Amino acid sequence: MQKSTARISAATLARRLGPESPAGTGPAYRQLAHRIRSAVLDGRLAVTSGLPSERDLAVGLRISRTTVAAAYSLLRDEGWLDSRRGSGSRLRLPDSRGASGASGTSGASIGLGPAGLLGYPGSTGDEIDLSVASLPAPAGLIEQLAALAVEDLPAYAAGGGYAPFGLPVLRQAIADHYSAAGLPTKADQILVTSGGQHAFTLALQELSVPGDRVMIECPTYPVALDAIRAARRIPGPVGLPGPGQIGDTTAPWDADLIAATMRQTAPRLAYLIPDFQNPTGALMDEATRRRIVDAARASNTILLVDETFRDVPFPGHPALPPRMGSFDDGQRVLTLGSLSKSVWGGLRIGWVRGAPAVINRLAAARSLADMSGPVLEQLMAAHLLADPVAVLDQQSRRMADGAALLTAELADIRPEWQVSRPQGGAFLWVALPGPFATELARAAHAVGVLITPGPRFGPDGTMESYLRLPFTEPADRLVTGVRRLSAIADRAAATAGRLSDVPGWLT
Ligand SMILES: Cc1ncc(COP(=O)(O)O)c(C=O)c1O
Repeated sequence: MQKSTARISAATLARRLGPESPAGTGPAYRQLAHRIRSAVLDGRLAVTSGLPSERDLAVGLRISRTTVAAAYSLLRDEGWLDSRRGSGSRLRLPDSRGASGASGTSGASIGLGPAGLLGYPGSTGDEIDLSVASLPAPAGLIEQLAALAVEDLPAYAAGGGYAPFGLPVLRQAIADHYSAAGLPTKADQILVTSGGQHAFTLALQELSVPGDRVMIECPTYPVALDAIRAARRIPGPVGLPGPGQIGDTTAPWDADLIAATMRQTAPRLAYLIPDFQNPTGALMDEATRRRIVDAARASNTILLVDETFRDVPFPGHPALPPRMGSFDDGQRVLTLGSLSKSVWGGLRIGWVRGAPAVINRLAAARSLADMSGPVLEQLMAAHLLADPVAVLDQQSRRMADGAALLTAELADIRPEWQVSRPQGGAFLWVALPGPFATELARAAHAVGVLITPGPRFGPDGTMESYLRLPFTEPADRLVTGVRRLSAIADRAAATAGRLSDVPGWLT
């Protein structure tokens, strides 16, 4: 069976492993095995990636073939590697994996998901919620938009009320928003949806069938991952953050690895978040965007490009790289957009931009589920998009203030936690000093704070040393929330450390 992850070259593996630890002790083969294991646990190397041959890796890392052979042998003995004569070696997770969330239902061990925003079924509603990244609407804005929309209503109420593609006035406003930003767009390229998640699920279900591979970034947005699984598609993760790159949010995408994955696994779809990626906050550079679109063309993969956070770069940010849709010949890229993060999640306005023929297919599919979207909210969105600059600026400033506050607070109380330095978006990606994120989330729940641990952002239960912290809560709640986390962190680390003595635990 064709795998959903690629066989990686020695050069790619060397990049994913990062530099040798200067403090590395023990024989060289043990250090190499440790680096490979760590890269898997950090999500840098996808589980089931094919490794290069011993000879190629020895040449690539400029070490002896005996060292590579001994490292592979150790990994094989420990259950981290499957080797078959003629088909090489593939990474895997050891069989008995404790309760680290490695079961493939990431986060399930603490009652998280797979249920999107309903991920904390035991929540009382009083907790400080650092699991959802969502700003309140600007004061008075929604009321103002509603008043404007109500004035338009009589003309619409006199008609039948159905518009499966979206109200023409809103389709045009969204098309104009793209055109004004440098990507010429016509209204017939737009389908209005009930938020970005609706847009994603619709495209996923209409453009692939059960059993198809969907390439994803690892880490990625968990609710998209849930949708892929629920639709019985196979997620094929490509590791994102390079070693030591958590603070460098400009270039974590490895274009060679992505191109190789597309070439070898021919995924039907690939889901990417190039602008202030969820959860790393990373921003994809122009050359990588261009290469990925080219690779998708060659492997006949459709790119689902989620631009939910594109409209909230922090104030003063230089112009963003062109949208991936600009490198498309019209068939390869479907762009998913939403007002949920840049304006307000309660509006439930999202959209898909693509070739008119695809938009027609998606509109036919959407009408099977909900026929059409509500008129009032679409009119509100059309008014907003007629003049969005002041609102987007205000929301961007709030995001930037939240980021500055959270970054400063963490530097003060937990300087050993490494944090990303996003230039937009709604969260920090935090590298803890050990694999205790799930335990911390469990303990946090008990002190009234909800957080999302790293394993929730990938398909394999790895990334136990990571945490996503949104900065969209009001300042006082944000500070109280992270202080509570800090207060319980050492105990959570110790508990996770004790559990890690269980044979097979993933550390
Ligand atoms: C990357 C990404 N895409 C889509 C969504 C869902 O957006 P919406 O509320 O518009 O459905 C989110 C919500 O957090 C998100 O982070």
